[in-house]
Amino acid sequence: MGKYNFDAIIDRHHTSCEKWDFLKDKFGRDDLLAMWVADMDFTAPPEVIEVLKERVDHGIFGYTGRTDSYFDSIVQWVDKRHGWKIEANWIRHAPGVVPALSMSVLAFTQPGDGILVQPPVYPPFYSAVNGRGRRVVENPLVFRDGRFEMDFDDLEKKIDSSVKMLFLCNPHNPVGRVWTEEELKRLGEICGRHDLIIVSDEIHSDIVFKGFRHVPIASLSPELAARTITCIAPSKTFNIAGLSTSAIIIPNKRIRDNYTTVLDFLHIDSGNIFGTFALEAAYSKGEPWLEALIEYLEGNVNFIEDYLKENIPSIKLVRPEATYVPFLDCRGLGLSNGALFDLLINKARVAMNNGAWFGKGGEGFMRINIATPRALIKEGLDRIARALACIEK
Ligand SMILES: Cc1ncc(COP(=O)(O)O)c(C=O)c1O
Repeated sequence: MGKYNFDAIIDRHHTSCEKWDFLKDKFGRDDLLAMWVADMDFTAPPEVIEVLKERVDHGIFGYTGRTDSYFDSIVQWVDKRHGWKIEANWIRHAPGVVPALSMSVLAFTQPGDGILVQPPVYPPFYSAVNGRGRRVVENPLVFRDGRFEMDFDDLEKKIDSSVKMLFLCNPHNPVGRVWTEEELKRLGEICGRHDLIIVSDEIHSDIVFKGFRHVPIASLSPELAARTITCIAPSKTFNIAGLSTSAIIIPNKRIRDNYTTVLDFLHIDSGNIFGTFALEAAYSKGEPWLEALIEYLEGNVNFIEDYLKENIPSIKLVRPEATYVPFLDCRGLGLSNGALFDLLINKARVAMNNGAWFGKGGEGFMRINIATPRALIKEGLDRIARALACIEK
C-alpha cells in the first residue's frame, strides 16, 4: 500500500449520502451495491481535510470572500495540469457546474433558441435547457470500433440561425473520451463559422489516464477563448462535490460581464466557506493524492476489463480515456433496455445508471462508477455474473 489507502472500505450509510442513503428513491429498493452517481467512496486528500478541520475549529462561519491566493491556486493549477495560461480576473464563481450551464443559458440565449448537446451525455445537459423555452438540439455521438466519436456532418446539418450555443462535455461523461486537439479544432471551426457560444464543461479534466492529454478548447486560439465559457471544479477531482464550489473561466469581458449579471441577480456569488478553503487547499496541495488516485483508478479499469473478458464476455467495458464513470456495453446480452435494468437492479442488486438516461445512443449501455475500492468492484461484477448464471439455467 502506498501513502493513500484507496482499498479501505468506508461505510457511507447514514451520512445523508446520495449514493448510498437514497437508493430507494432512485431505484425503488435499498439493498443495492451503489455504483452510480459520480462521487467517490474515498476520503478527500489529507491536506483538504486538515484545512476544513482548522476552519471548523475556529467556530465562526460568516460570509467569506476569495483572496488572491484562492485565485492564484486556480491559475497555477490550470497552467500546470493543462498548459493553459489564464488570468485571475477571468475567473467567476458558480455553486456547481450545472448551475453555470443554466446561468449561461439564461445570459446568452432567448426563448426559442437552440442549444446543441452531444448524447449520450450527462442528463443535466438536457434539464439546463428544457423548461426555459429553449430547445435542445441533439448531435449524437457515433460508436465506432469500440469508442464514441463526434459526427461533424450531422452537426453542420443541425445548425440553423436559431442555434446559439453548444454544451461541450470534455472529457465526456459517460463515453469517457478526451477529445483530441484535431477534434476540438474542427468543432471550434464550426462553432466559429456559426458564431456559437461554447460552454465547455471540463469538470472531469483532471482525471485522465496514461496516454491521453486534456486540451481545454479555449486554449487552442484567441478566437476560441473569446467565445468559450470553461467550467472547472475540484469537486470530481478531489471528491468534494458536497462543498458546492466551481470556477468558471471566461476570457471575453463582454461574456464575463453578462454572466456576472446573472450571478449577481441570483445572488449566489458569495459561495460556501468550506468550498472556498477546500478548493484552494486541493489545487495547491492535492496533486500527489490525485496522481495516486489516477493510478488506482487505472488499476480498476484494467481489473474490470480482465474480469469481463474472463467471466462475462457478453459485457464489454468502453475503455475510458478519462473519468471514473465509464459505460459498460451490455448489448451483447441481447436484452431490452427494461430487461437489462431489471437484471442489474432486481437480480444482481447492483445500482448503476441506465444508459438510456443519457439520451440517444445510450440504450443497451450501463454506466458504472469505478471510484470505489477494488473489492467492491469485484463484488459488483460477481453479483452480475451470478445473476446471469441464474437466467441462463
Ligand atoms: C459532466 C458533468 N458536469 C457536471 C457535473 C456536476 O456538476 P455540479 O455538481 O458541480 O453541478 C457532473 C457530475 O457528475 C458531470 O459529470
